[in-house]
Amino acid sequence: MFYKIMLALLALVAGFASPGMGQMDARTYPIIPIPQKIQAQKGQFEVSAKTLISTDVKEAEIDWVIQYLNQHLQSRMDVALPVSKSGKKSASAIYLKLLPGAVKPESYRLTIDAKQILIEGGDPAGLFYGVQSLIQLLPDGDRLVLPSLSVEDHPAFPYRGMHLDVGRHFFPVAFVKQYIDMLARYKMNRFHWHLTEDQGWRIEIKRYPKLQEVAAFRKETLIGSYNNQPQQYDGKRYGGFYTQEEIKEIVRYAQERFVTIVPEIELPGHAQAAIAAYPELGCTGQPVEVATKWGVFENVYCPSEATFEFLQNVLTEVMQLFPGKYIHIGGDECPKTQWKESPVAQELIRKEGLKNEEELQSYFIRRIEKFLNANGRDIIGWDEILEGGLAPNATVMSWRGIEGGIEAARQKHPVIMTPVSHCYFDYYQALHPEEPLAIGGFLPLEKVYSYNPVPDELSPEEAKYILGAQGNLWTEYIPDSDKAEYMAYPRMQALSEVVWSGEAKKDFPGFIQRLLVHLPRLEKEGITVANHLFDVKASVKSGDGNGVRLALHNLAQTGVVRYTRDGSSPKAVSPAIEGDLPITSDGQFLGRSFLEGTAIGREAGVDINLHYAAGRSIALTNPPAKQYSGSGPGALINGVAGDAERYNDGEWLGFQGTDFEAVIDFGEPISFRKLVFRFFNSPAQWIYAPREVLVSTANLPEQFGQESKTRLVPPNAWSGKQLQSVLIYNTKARFLKIKIPNFGIIPDGYPGAGNKAWLFVDEIVVE
Ligand code: ACM
Repeated sequence: MFYKIMLALLALVAGFASPGMGQMDARTYPIIPIPQKIQAQKGQFEVSAKTLISTDVKEAEIDWVIQYLNQHLQSRMDVALPVSKSGKKSASAIYLKLLPGAVKPESYRLTIDAKQILIEGGDPAGLFYGVQSLIQLLPDGDRLVLPSLSVEDHPAFPYRGMHLDVGRHFFPVAFVKQYIDMLARYKMNRFHWHLTEDQGWRIEIKRYPKLQEVAAFRKETLIGSYNNQPQQYDGKRYGGFYTQEEIKEIVRYAQERFVTIVPEIELPGHAQAAIAAYPELGCTGQPVEVATKWGVFENVYCPSEATFEFLQNVLTEVMQLFPGKYIHIGGDECPKTQWKESPVAQELIRKEGLKNEEELQSYFIRRIEKFLNANGRDIIGWDEILEGGLAPNATVMSWRGIEGGIEAARQKHPVIMTPVSHCYFDYYQALHPEEPLAIGGFLPLEKVYSYNPVPDELSPEEAKYILGAQGNLWTEYIPDSDKAEYMAYPRMQALSEVVWSGEAKKDFPGFIQRLLVHLPRLEKEGITVANHLFDVKASVKSGDGNGVRLALHNLAQTGVVRYTRDGSSPKAVSPAIEGDLPITSDGQFLGRSFLEGTAIGREAGVDINLHYAAGRSIALTNPPAKQYSGSGPGALINGVAGDAERYNDGEWLGFQGTDFEAVIDFGEPISFRKLVFRFFNSPAQWIYAPREVLVSTANLPEQFGQESKTRLVPPNAWSGKQLQSVLIYNTKARFLKIKIPNFGIIPDGYPGAGNKAWLFVDEIVVE
């Protein structure tokens, strides 16, 4: 429905404001991901039923390319075009050729002039991508008139991936195919299919029928958020699996779209469903059930000979189904609790001369790697496979941050970047209260787009090991296809420019203009997209001593944003906001986008509290983690409280392992009575409120008096998300210093045990 409004408004948008050249280009050439080079020419070409598709390419894959193009054209014109495979000439033709000589893999050139369309590929994949660009250039409407132009294009990264977890929720074959098709349209070339989980085993393995009968089904599923207390269940049996015939069909479908599937068989952790089917694979031998809630479970594979035999037999069937080079073997989140108690595990540690359970995990992975290598395959593992020593030929998927990727690249191992901060599409994408339930976090479109898979820390030589990046769709909170699409699109499109176009070509405003063409088209096809381009976003600046300033804008950068101060919805006659508005009084600001007098998108607001520190200067001794630096240190004194659920809303600052230390300069001595702090506390996300806060003041720089300390009582680890702390502090001073020691190392028994805890700090309210 929204799509209809969009179509109606698009006509308006085109003539609205005064788009710069960049935006004109984006609208004229709506290609996502943006090509490396695009040059306008004079003239145009109309594709008609008489246009010949002509090729002299002999590679078998050419049939896939022609079929794809013709299927699309048939959907537009009701007829398929004639095809010549002997390179016949015609007055109206689309020619497909291979470029001679050494050319970049997956590259293409697309030339459109008044007489013909010429697509030249570096290889058949390149031809396929040329076809994708051509299809995107076709205008909406009945006549397929294309502008003359020339495009030269190639990918920035060879690995351009999207992941789908079918363990937590099961997705039908039709959806998996459509997901793969969407990847292909946006020039993504790897589909990471997460096939086994604690909550369900989804791939038919003929040798082990109980994987289908038992492991593929759970008796019920957790309702709502994991954090709800008490947890509730739906009482409904749930599950399913892909037969080997269905998998072959999907593999073929992906091949025809130049997408390689990377199947993931998780080990040694996330194995509870398999152990439910075959208890002898676990260390306790006790029966367990297929998991019914989310999280990390202690029932992991026992490193017995029987387990290795099982896994090798499973992997043998997996290799017969999936022709790609890579098999993903998981390796993440494997608690060692049962190994510590298990005579089998302990005996193996002794026999192999291993130091501890971490080295045992490394032994486990190496042994599986050896088996797969012997069969001509390579492994990918999550970054935990670095612990206890990396298997010799492994590729590392860096997810807990970028550090694993940096370390692996320095060890000269290939790396795929997929850090939670920029690549987890199960995170919230908007702060709007009506957003559907998500796992947590906050990853808006612009943050995905801003991602550079090559860490600054790497030398150019080390950077060569970064193969690319991948977006992950974990499905604890994604029960069906519509929600999966909503979470994936358009963040996947943003990632496509990250991995295909690359850092030098990226252009966010241009991307948004192109999305304004793509999203209505996708909606017309019945694909669900998170179309938030006209939603109002609020940002409140502070921290440089120049007061508090408010900006309200939309990503479309189109139309006007109007606002109210009385809590009522903005109307066409409400005042417009342009640029930064200096804030001189407390209270609420509510904004809404308008196009030619019509409200569009969702409204958003902020509540600003002009306390004594708001708008003053602040300096931090230790910077926050780059990926959780909010809108800068000023976010701590901009008068705006952080979101109660999402610590990544620009208002919270996150520090992993480091202490917080800040000095606020009021500019002059002022009297104040109390300080109010707020900390995030969510052990499931490795975030811990601190144990104490230390405060001191000064009237001259660096002449701070005695520290005043306040002890905080951390809440019950699994209850409330925030901890507020009030410190009564009657004084008059110009400088205020605040020290907050980090919680430290995450204790045993909690998610992320042994890692450094995160400290998230919100507004520092001075009254
Ligand atoms: C992961 O998100 N556990 C790889």
